Amino acid sequence: MDRLSAAARLMIVSDLDHTMVDHHDAENLSLLRFNALWEAHYRRDSLLVFSTGRSPTLYKQLRKEKPMLTPDITIMSVGTEITYGDAMVPDNGWVEVLNQKWDKKIVTEEASRFPELKLQSETEQRPHKVSFYVDKDKAQTVTQKLSEIFKNRGLDVKIIYSGGMDLDILPQGAGKGQALAYLLRKFKSEGKVPTNTLVCGDSGNDAELFSIPEVYGVMVSNAQEELLQWHAANAKNNPKITHATERCAAGIIQAIGHFKLGPSTSPRDIKDESDGEVKSIDLGHEVVKLYLFYERWRRAEIDNSEIYLSSLKANCCPSGFCVPPSGGEISLAEAINQFRKCYGDKQGKQFRVRRGHVQLSPSS
Ligand code: GLC
Ligand code: MG
Repeated sequence: MDRLSAAARLMIVSDLDHTMVDHHDAENLSLLRFNALWEAHYRRDSLLVFSTGRSPTLYKQLRKEKPMLTPDITIMSVGTEITYGDAMVPDNGWVEVLNQKWDKKIVTEEASRFPELKLQSETEQRPHKVSFYVDKDKAQTVTQKLSEIFKNRGLDVKIIYSGGMDLDILPQGAGKGQALAYLLRKFKSEGKVPTNTLVCGDSGNDAELFSIPEVYGVMVSNAQEELLQWHAANAKNNPKITHATERCAAGIIQAIGHFKLGPSTSPRDIKDESDGEVKSIDLGHEVVKLYLFYERWRRAEIDNSEIYLSSLKANCCPSGFCVPPSGGEISLAEAINQFRKCYGDKQGKQFRVRRGHVQLSPSS
């Protein structure tokens, strides 16, 4: 991961469904609060890693449905696929590691003998992941029987039960925890181990993340029984793991504050600039402030005053530009001129900018 020339100040490794993304929050408020915090205070010198059970297909679908940031690293299919950057360049070294003692054909063949197991959709069957649904009361017995069979056939596999319904079969060396350990080894070889790492999760396939040495961990308030049970049995006395009292992304923000890993007040929560915890000028923070202003302007929560617009223009880099959602580039001054046309058009509505991706850069 070459974006940062030095070790990351903070690396967040977060699960998506029911951790970063709250499917019960139609407004996506906690996610938007996290995004604003990240863009304002962390993007420049920290790393965001998403670690999801979803395949690339379902991950891309979620990105269309929810206002998610683009992470630096994406780990998909329960730690079996690692990609880098916006272009999602795959880590082929990881694939080599996973090929050891793995035979997908045998796994599928043996598992198909169990009527309790219902195969998940085709998109969720991946080169190093075979996934089923199974009822909660049958999960343990099936897991035990399968482990025995695979052992007898010379395979070293890992079986993970998540969300009270999903059963994944992976190579033993795979999983979210192993994928993170692999990344940390890579960072170490480059002399860039993040100063702090915070892992975030809610269900069974996240448990491994919490057993990686040195990392901080947050189980969000809405964590599943299987993760809480794992914690009670394996990590109860680890002071670096906390069970948040807030749901999903709000729980992640809470943990950043709890472990004192850096700023933990989202710009979205600051109504009055004077009581913000930020004193320094940071470009990311300025961008977030610009889009928060834009939201309030369109909701007519501030006066329709030319003074605001001229002051905004005066504070912008003359050669700065922004990329509107429709594509292309327009100068910042022109973008601000266009504010006039849309004052108050979202009055009384819950209008929020979905992505804070205003790009500021000299046009040279
Ligand atoms: C995601 C995946 C699914 C997997 C589950 C638990 O929902 O789509 O295949 O079983 O995570 O890891
Ligand atoms: Mg989850």
